[in-house]
Formats: sequence, C-alpha cells, structure tokens
Amino acid sequence: MDTLDFVKVTEAAALAASRWMGKGERDLADGAAVEKMRDVLNEMDISGRIVIGEGERDEAPMLYIGEELGRGGVEVDIAVDPVEGTNLVANGLPNSIAVLAVTSKGGLLNAPDTYMQKLAVGPKAASYIHIDASVKENLQVVANAMERPIDDITVVILDRPRHKELIEEVRRAGAKIKLISDGDVDAAIATAIDGTGIHVAMGTGGAPEGVLAAAALKCLGGGFMGRLKPRNEAEAARALEMGMESVDKVLTMEELVRTDDVTFVATGITDGDLCRGVRFFGNGARTHSIVMNSQSVTVRFIETVHRLKAVPFRVRQH
Ligand code: FBP
Repeated sequence: MDTLDFVKVTEAAALAASRWMGKGERDLADGAAVEKMRDVLNEMDISGRIVIGEGERDEAPMLYIGEELGRGGVEVDIAVDPVEGTNLVANGLPNSIAVLAVTSKGGLLNAPDTYMQKLAVGPKAASYIHIDASVKENLQVVANAMERPIDDITVVILDRPRHKELIEEVRRAGAKIKLISDGDVDAAIATAIDGTGIHVAMGTGGAPEGVLAAAALKCLGGGFMGRLKPRNEAEAARALEMGMESVDKVLTMEELVRTDDVTFVATGITDGDLCRGVRFFGNGARTHSIVMNSQSVTVRFIETVHRLKAVPFRVRQH
C-alpha cells in the first residue's frame, strides 16, 4: 500500500463536492463526495475499516462506522470526512476540504458522533498548552513560545453562541480573533503551518473532526488536546459504549492518535488556508492536496490535473 494512493480518495471526493459549490445543497455535495470516496477506497488493495465516518450504520448508507472497504490487503483503520464544511461548499465559502486519515488497526480514538472541546497549536507551543489551563494562561504560553506579545496571537473560534464567553475571555487576554462559520479541522491544521497567520484554534466542535485534526497535527508536530462534550445522556452513554473510560477524560494527542504512523490527506474543495480549491477548466480540473505522514515526517503538497473527458486537452501553466 502506497500512502500516496490515498490522495486519489480525497481528490475524487473534492472533485465531486465542488460541482455543488454555491448551490445551497449541502447534503447533495456531501452525498456526491461520500459516494466517490467509497468507490475509490473500494478499488484499493487494502482491508480497510471505517472508524470515523458518516455516522452509525443505521443512519449512514455509506462510509458508516465499521464499514469494510477495499479489495483486500494490509489492514488499516480509516477516518474520513468527505466534506469538512458542508455549509462552506453550499455557500461557496473558503476552507472546505475533503479529509482522510489512515493508521494501522486501532490507531485512532473511535470518537462518538458528539462534540469535543478542542485546543490546537503549532509545534512551538505544543508542549506548553493544557486544556484545563485558563484561556489567558494558554495564550500566554503560546505567545512566549512564539516570542511575541499576546496581542500578536490570532485565535480561530467557530462563530457559535456557545462560544460567547470564550470569545470574551480571548478578547480580555488581548489576542486577536478570527471567527469562522464552519471548518475547524482546517483551522486547527493552520495553526501548525507557517504563514497562515493563525496560532491557536479553540472551542467546541465535532468530536470526529477533533480526531482528524489531531491526526494532522501529529504529522506536523503540533499540539492538540480535547475533551468530549456530549449534548445529552444518550451521547454520553454512546461514548462509554465505544470504549471511553470516562466522558470527562482529557484527550491528549496520545489518546487520540495511538500510533506513530498516521497518514493524513486533505484536498481543497473551495480555496483555503491549506489548499487551493478545485479549479475547472474546459475538459479538466486541477486539485490541490496536502499529504502528510507522521513517521516519515513528510508534508507533500500535490497538484493534480484531472482529465474529465476523453478529448485532447492542454495542461495549463500556473
Ligand atoms: P460539517 O461539514 O459536517 O457540516 O461540519 C462542519 C463543522 O463546522 C465542523 O468543522 C465543526 O467541527 C462542526 O461543524 C461544528 O458543529 P456545529 O455546526 O454543530 O457547531
């Protein structure tokens, strides 16, 4: 199994979803990406098992948790989010990505479909943050690690009413805030990429997205901590059923990603901090992806030209 093959999976998902950009149809964008992702995974020489996917078997016809994929081969656990930011695609907004992480069996926390409080930073601050520290303390250690005042730290937070207090605390501490409407995986990863101008991602979002973000940050040497935030008793019970020792447990990088060998792949659907979106031209399209592996400590950006119709076409220069 060549880990680079997995980029074909997110490329296919991104191409399919991008057809729905700006059309106000989040479910159709997601459905198209799910179908393509599944088709490509099924063509691979792997014995894959979905550990993070579209939901439980009874609610998701494809890429459900526990679904087995591939033509047979090395056993791998696969976490997917065919469209991370379905609203972003539906509204033609930046930072939607097709995402996948792969590990050997048992390499990822089987996160229930609930919420997670998250704290993500880049490599310089990775060993100094703690989810139980105050907002101000965390921002101060990040500022120290990055050799700048708190005022020059930018925090990304999902723009949700539940974050009112968090936003006030960050403002009181003096940091800048970038509020996003969706897409906290992209935001978390951006903390570990120089030049994005994003230093911290904080707040509560999807738990499956938290595991995916942790997988990416593991590859980049960044820091991530989380804690499940179930919305009700049923979600809390499901978390315990899925093997969590306790719902309140602090989830360190080691809990979330239980292996030193994780591959993370994302392809841009709309333009974003990490990757450019899908660009169609005549009879083809160009995709931009990021492929990372924690063991080889490599980060590759892959630009692919896809021929969509069986007619001659010209590869355009940038
Ligand atoms: P979807 O692509 O599944 O719509 O998720 C987008 C997202 O913004 C995630 O990035 C984030 O973790 C989660 O939704 C936040 O959930 P909510 O919109 O319920 O606050």
